[in-house]
Amino acid sequence: MKEPVSNDVPLNSPQDSMTVCVWRSTGNDGDYQSFEVPRHDSQTVLDVVTWIQQEADPTLSYRYACRVGMCGSCAMMVNGVPRWTCRTHVEKVLDAGSIEIAPLKNLPVIKDLVTDMDPFFDKWTLAGARHHPGLDRHDPMQAVDPQSDQRQEADLGIECINCAICYAACDTVAGNPSYLGPAALQRAWTLLNDEKDTGRQTILEAVSDIGGCHNCHSMGSCAQHCPNDLNPMRAIAGLKRETARKWMGWPSPC
Ligand code: SF4
Ligand code: SF4
Ligand code: FES
Repeated sequence: MKEPVSNDVPLNSPQDSMTVCVWRSTGNDGDYQSFEVPRHDSQTVLDVVTWIQQEADPTLSYRYACRVGMCGSCAMMVNGVPRWTCRTHVEKVLDAGSIEIAPLKNLPVIKDLVTDMDPFFDKWTLAGARHHPGLDRHDPMQAVDPQSDQRQEADLGIECINCAICYAACDTVAGNPSYLGPAALQRAWTLLNDEKDTGRQTILEAVSDIGGCHNCHSMGSCAQHCPNDLNPMRAIAGLKRETARKWMGWPSPC
């Protein structure tokens, strides 16, 4: 293993390296540790973290899988903003020659840059955001019209990669740990519009509960930061409409 690059190592020019401050901890107490990391073309923030782990400090813990924006596992706070690090280029975030990297907000930290995702996924269950099948493998395939309004609505949230960036960006989650959060609620809306899902009443009850959709203040940080350009706030507005309709005893249009 190579020695870590420190400030004692002469560099050819300021552009040859950057200062990277990385959160180090076991649990929620910790501090930033600074590394000098070489720059190169098309370098992503995940490349930077990987370089530190491979070349400077093998004890650094972080999480990733696909490196191409598919798995959602590489999300971290970069200069205070939640981002998918495998698709975030260093040039985009470099601030006066340095970058600060921390674990995602609003989740417990296991170690360094690794957060415990259990609270995030537990809320999907609490939101009723698991498929409620009405058919089994012996039934004929149910056709769904791809042009139907319901299908079009379900499509809007279907590219969620479960990265929890919206969850980290949501200040309602920060202030109210029981709030189900944008991703779980968006998933609940997707299933509510899925013609193959039979859990309509279960979902509406789950999202009306104490941490449910009516906690959302509709400021849109989730939509602003979602790396896949999804709009959980819009989905939550749909849930607010449908839960209100249910409460008023009005028939649903879907
Ligand atoms: S719009 Fe709602 S879900 Fe989205 S960040 Fe704001 S409070 Fe959270
Ligand atoms: S809605 Fe967007 S930001 Fe939130 S988990 Fe899904 S992909 Fe990530
Ligand atoms: S490593 Fe899979 S989305 Fe970044």
